[in-house]
Amino acid sequence: MNEHGFAFVTGGGSGIGRATAIALARKGLDVVVADSSLESAVETAKAVRAFGYEATALEIDVTDLVSIEQAIAVGTRTHGNLVAAVNSAGIQGEIADVTDCSPENWSRIIDVNLTGAFFSMQAEIGEMLRHGEPAAVVNISSNFGIVGQRGMPAYCASKHGLIGLSKSAALDYAERGVRVNVVSPGPIATPLLESFTGTSGSNLLDSIKSSVPMRRIGSAEEVAEAVVWLLSENASYVTGAVLSVDGGYVVQ
Ligand SMILES: NC(=O)c1ccc[n+]([C@@H]2O[C@H](COP(=O)([O-])OP(=O)(O)OC[C@H]3O[C@@H](n4cnc5c(N)ncnc54)[C@H](O)[C@@H]3O)[C@@H](O)[C@H]2O)c1
Repeated sequence: MNEHGFAFVTGGGSGIGRATAIALARKGLDVVVADSSLESAVETAKAVRAFGYEATALEIDVTDLVSIEQAIAVGTRTHGNLVAAVNSAGIQGEIADVTDCSPENWSRIIDVNLTGAFFSMQAEIGEMLRHGEPAAVVNISSNFGIVGQRGMPAYCASKHGLIGLSKSAALDYAERGVRVNVVSPGPIATPLLESFTGTSGSNLLDSIKSSVPMRRIGSAEEVAEAVVWLLSENASYVTGAVLSVDGGYVVQ
């Protein structure tokens, strides 16, 4: 058990969640890696242990509140107090404009990206208030939580909604020791982006790069740095903030 408590990372089995779990371990926290893919969560947990910290891999589905509550209960018994939570579980869904977006595609994206983060915060903040130590949450939105994107109405709605949800929660818990912030990544090299763009030589990848003022794709580690800072005591007066890590995408 770590006397400094533990971090809970949804979507911790891959991409931004995995990089963040490893970065938090390097800062001295145990980590509960929670993902719908237990196999990938186990891989992340191994990487965390390589830095000398404890990690527990657990299967959750963020659309199932009970599964999140159970995972946090296991974390609390094993690692002490929940002091940091990162909600990175997310899906892109199918590309379809409003008239083509099926009700199933719409519902699945909203369920995972928005309701999933809501359920995650319900379980996480409930536990944080119970132990009463200072604690913080970071929700992973997107540049498409700030601006629109063709063919992605459900994804954009889920990520815009997540920012509103986070700001509201930041106000609700500002006096009770729980800070809630958002990191808003631009295009980041992860399996999620690769499933969309295909191989690295693709025209789509080139056009994404040229849409970014810095003319490159970001790394999951660059996003993790921002998350770690927002969760740290160095950000003790920061709540309700939306920190873009997007190579300048949303300011152009
Ligand atoms: N990669 C990008 O370019 C990019 C850009 C902006 C925002 N984001 C956001 O960052 C977050 C992480 O994305 P990533 O690129 O690391 O993707 P990723 O696909 O590499 O990782 C997402 C993880 O979430 C897990 N997951 C999916 N549905 C789940 C569920 N119902 N319950 C629990 N876990 C579930 C997956 O198994 C996977 O391990 C997402 O919310 C995504 O929308 C990514």
